[in-house]
Amino acid sequence: MSNAGQLILPRIAQERFDRLEACTASIGVIGLGYAGLPLSLLLAEAGFKVTGFDIDATKVDDLEAGRSYIVRIPATEIQSARRHGFVATTDFAHLSNQDAIIICVPTPLTENREPDLSYVENTAKSVALWIREGQLVVLESTTYPGTTEEVMIPILEAENLRGLKVQTDGVPAEHGVFYVAFSPEREDPGNVTVARCDIPKVVGGHEIIATELAAALYQGIFTKSVRVSSTRVAEMTKLLENIYRCVNIALVNELKLLSLRMGVDIWEVIDAAATKPFGFHPFYPGPGLGGHCIPIDPFYLSWKAREYDFNTRFIQLAGEVNEAMPAHVVQYVGMGLNQHKQAMNGARILMLGIAYKKDIDDLRESPALTVIEMLRAQGAEVLYNDPYFPTVGRGRHYNLNMTCTPLTNLEQYDCVLIMTDHSDYDYKKIVRQSRLVVDSRNATKGIDSAKIVRC
Ligand SMILES: NC(=O)c1ccc[n+]([C@@H]2O[C@H](COP(=O)([O-])OP(=O)(O)OC[C@H]3O[C@@H](n4cnc5c(N)ncnc54)[C@H](O)[C@@H]3O)[C@@H](O)[C@H]2O)c1
Repeated sequence: MSNAGQLILPRIAQERFDRLEACTASIGVIGLGYAGLPLSLLLAEAGFKVTGFDIDATKVDDLEAGRSYIVRIPATEIQSARRHGFVATTDFAHLSNQDAIIICVPTPLTENREPDLSYVENTAKSVALWIREGQLVVLESTTYPGTTEEVMIPILEAENLRGLKVQTDGVPAEHGVFYVAFSPEREDPGNVTVARCDIPKVVGGHEIIATELAAALYQGIFTKSVRVSSTRVAEMTKLLENIYRCVNIALVNELKLLSLRMGVDIWEVIDAAATKPFGFHPFYPGPGLGGHCIPIDPFYLSWKAREYDFNTRFIQLAGEVNEAMPAHVVQYVGMGLNQHKQAMNGARILMLGIAYKKDIDDLRESPALTVIEMLRAQGAEVLYNDPYFPTVGRGRHYNLNMTCTPLTNLEQYDCVLIMTDHSDYDYKKIVRQSRLVVDSRNATKGIDSAKIVRC
């Protein structure tokens, strides 16, 4: 056994370890969204027999027909994975045939901004129904330290009908156990500079055999595995990464607000600071946080910290600063209109880009949604253009029912508001054709025009 070193594995684990290491194992991936689908495709390309599970029958039907529902994943990649044996299903009975099961279901916040683990709990219940001796179950969903041990394992143990228990530290059991690990999903949607397989994979098992099985699974698709001592360390690693981003984005957002008052260009400052070859990593200001991770994950830790009578002040402060950014954008739209002797009430505003960041088709937690609501509340008529969204209906926290407006006759709008700096836009042309451009992303960098209000 190569990676497990001197560790002697029981037979039920050794057989799986060998199949995982040879990339011939059967892998079930539960949750075929932005995280689970690309992972399934990577595993299938590597030779694993991959079955994707989802409760959303439309997604399963699409994949079975070789169609993609994520813009950055071409249908040809789905079709290629299918040629390698990838299948998708809503029938969870097939879980019992898998050597390893990877869980990639959502971990959002409730209305009260507390962790909503219902997806993880429901998935654990489905897995418990079909779990078999020796199987490895890996949770990839981002969550607070302790979720794997305090939430997932108790469900897997209590609800399986075979009386199986998780392997715990001590003598490796020959029978009656399954293995559990946590390995955070680290994808950066839209990032084309780092190949997904080159992002090191952190793995932390409930005990050492699970860590080695998980490392064997991921070595087939990731260049490097980083073993940590427990599921809690792996869970906390992901949160540290996202809190680091959240806090640093808040810092530059706050410094942007000050720089605007001081007449200093914060983007020029950041570019200059980034020339320092050590001790500085650039983060950029924007109209507010978006996506499934950065606006949400830090609050998983804040919530858990309360159990320890601990107040996570950095997280709270960063949250306050970042959450105030949409209102700042709206204030600058008002100021821009005012310069043109116009009121917000009755203004026609075209918003460019509604995705939470450039070049992706993801609207979750997008600050554009908040800004649309705020502009409308002040009487503005808001239209949008976004090449990634022909229409916008309802989602978890919005109900817009809007259709993408063509990027023509820009002079008809009182204000063109750049919310997302998609690469496809011709910003020079946009400025030329518009009467007023409010730019929340520095997308018009280098364009010299009195029509632009940068915020
Ligand atoms: N999207 C990213 O780039 C990214 C990056 C890092 C971490 N993550 C983490 O990965 C996890 C998944 O995020 P996502 O963006 O893929 O979410 P998503 O909403 O795109 O996909 C989740 C999928 O799970 C399915 N699902 C929900 N409940 C289910 C159940 N009981 N059984 C089977 N399927 C079920 C949904 O139908 C959906 O297709 C989250 O914890 C997130 O924080 C995501």
